[in-house]
Amino acid sequence: MIDDHETGYFAEDDSARVVTARNANARDERLKQVMEVITRHLHAAIKEIEPTREEWMQAIQFLTRTGHMCDDWRQEYILLSDVLGVSMLVDAINSRRPTGATENTVLGPFHIGGAPEYPMGSNICLDGKGEDLVVRGRVLDVDGNPVEGAKIDVWQANDEGFYDVQQKGIQPDFNLRGVFRTGPDGIYWFKAVRPRHYSIPTDGTVGQLLEDLGRHPFRPAHLHYIISADGFEEITTHIFDPDDPYLHSDAVFGVKESLIAQFNRVDDPNRIRQMGFSGNHFWDVAFDFVLAPRP
Ligand code: BEZ
Ligand code: FE
Repeated sequence: MIDDHETGYFAEDDSARVVTARNANARDERLKQVMEVITRHLHAAIKEIEPTREEWMQAIQFLTRTGHMCDDWRQEYILLSDVLGVSMLVDAINSRRPTGATENTVLGPFHIGGAPEYPMGSNICLDGKGEDLVVRGRVLDVDGNPVEGAKIDVWQANDEGFYDVQQKGIQPDFNLRGVFRTGPDGIYWFKAVRPRHYSIPTDGTVGQLLEDLGRHPFRPAHLHYIISADGFEEITTHIFDPDDPYLHSDAVFGVKESLIAQFNRVDDPNRIRQMGFSGNHFWDVAFDFVLAPRP
């Protein structure tokens, strides 16, 4: 007797239905649904592309080489998802927020736990290299009230576009990383350096793909944040430098208009001295973060 899921032999014009019907007895409904959608779209793509056997083998080899690039530190599949805009799409779907709340963007691979917790106003730049920067603002709820006890975890690349973990022995450990906690006024401020744009890793399959597609591998200069507070949705986000040449072509599509900050140059010797800087200018960035209540 023919079972429900044994719905016929494979046929080009009915291919996705024949395959998905086999999953009628799946143990997990969500898996069944996911595989039905993926099979449908994959078959539609293959029908539109009509790859030769050689082209299909190239695709298999691309995925194989991508897997071989992966280890505990390097995740070429996440990078592939990043440059295809899929990481940002998954992030958008999972961080829909009320109007006015700060938007999310990609986490990226360079966050590490255990960064030192500093008092407000500390300098997270441990090697004194780069143009001085002051970042300040408030953590607020959607009604504009200050959020007390918000944890601000910040990390950034240096003025050459490298994170500390990419330059072990060159930059001090935990350079340009720090954790701050807001008081009752919700105010935060810290000193840092103006970050620079940088390239995502290009020595793997994703780098080759970008080159073949005529795309550059750069991310515009940014500071990363994870901000959390009791009773609020955690946000993972960046603020971006508006003058960066790659602002409109981020290799991983992480830029959102609401996350573009203003970097104001300060040349006033009194303000430079007040801040304890020794150069002839610094950059001043004011940016408020707005947290949505936890649903
Ligand atoms: C980052 O901003 O750190 C990053 C994000 C995605 C891919 C590579 C780096
Ligand atoms: Fe980054």
